[in-house]
Amino acid sequence: MVSALGQPEEAERHALQTLHTGGLAAMPTETVYGLFGDATRAGTVARIFEVKGRPRFNPLIAHVADEAMARAHGVFDERAARLAAAFWPGPLTIVLERRTESRICDLATAGLETVALRVPGAGFVRRVIAKLGAPLAGPSANPSGRVSPTNAAAVMSDIGDQIDLVVDGGPCALGLESTVIACTPEGAFLLRPGGLPKLEIEDVLGEAVARTHEVDDTQPRSPGMLKRHYATEAPIRLDARKVEPGEAVLAFGRDLPPGSDRASRILNLSVEGDLTEAAAHLYAHLRALDASEPTAIAVAPIPSGGLGEAITDRLRRAAVPPGPEPM
Ligand code: TXA
Ligand code: MG
Repeated sequence: MVSALGQPEEAERHALQTLHTGGLAAMPTETVYGLFGDATRAGTVARIFEVKGRPRFNPLIAHVADEAMARAHGVFDERAARLAAAFWPGPLTIVLERRTESRICDLATAGLETVALRVPGAGFVRRVIAKLGAPLAGPSANPSGRVSPTNAAAVMSDIGDQIDLVVDGGPCALGLESTVIACTPEGAFLLRPGGLPKLEIEDVLGEAVARTHEVDDTQPRSPGMLKRHYATEAPIRLDARKVEPGEAVLAFGRDLPPGSDRASRILNLSVEGDLTEAAAHLYAHLRALDASEPTAIAVAPIPSGGLGEAITDRLRRAAVPPGPEPM
């Protein structure tokens, strides 16, 4: 079933009905569309993993209505308290030691002693969580390893027939997943660059945030750092300075790479070279270019500062050729 956010009361009723009975609802957040289910129900969470085809060692984010609800599930240290005060609600996920009394099921946290918590910026989901009174497990609403959905049509075509409800709230404002930060006694670590630039986090903490090393795909210790992810069917060629016939072009800025006149299709992330605009367009443009079945997608050079870190992270993972499936 599809419910439009244009009718918020009705959409909220549908969402609550679905979630109360252990069903799965795709809902928009400010980052991407999430596939949401009650994080305290193991059967519901198992269905999320099944629909996504997600490896069970890769834990899910628990979405909560506010910081008070987050504190019922995670042990806040001083860094976490500062980050929550500065950036929640918003595109930041904080990984913390998990409280023993947390009702979030083990499957959702992949049996880890930590839990990933986020208060989404999107008011609709927050209200649904508050009324449900339980945290929602919510990975991006796409099959594991593929491009994340930033509009309801993308959710429908990927997994619409396997879930109970899609709430259509139009395109997502940010278009990139949340930044994931682990707060540990040793310091704060960047686990995934995302919609909140690292520099803003470092400003609030008053210290540098290290990026965890790349770790290989078979180590359960390193969920979410899978090398190949966000992938299209067509191969992706990064930093393209020249376009081959039959390729599609993902452009950035006013200048098109030479050979673009022979491209099968061209889409521009941002003609003005604006990274915020580029982030919002990234996944929808990748999907559209992929649908035109090019021999490859040639991606123009993209600057790496600010949101560029997350954009280039996603493109780099999408460009990794398919290899053996992770366990
Ligand atoms: O913006 C977002 O974060 C979206 C929306 C729907 O909220 N959600 C999302 O979820 O991107 P997902 O499942 O696609 O990504 C969650 C990331 C994964 O990289 C996962 O490995 C990591 O968070 N993660 C979750 N729990 C963790 C934990 N306890 N320790 C380390 N990483 C964790
Ligand atoms: Mg995802």
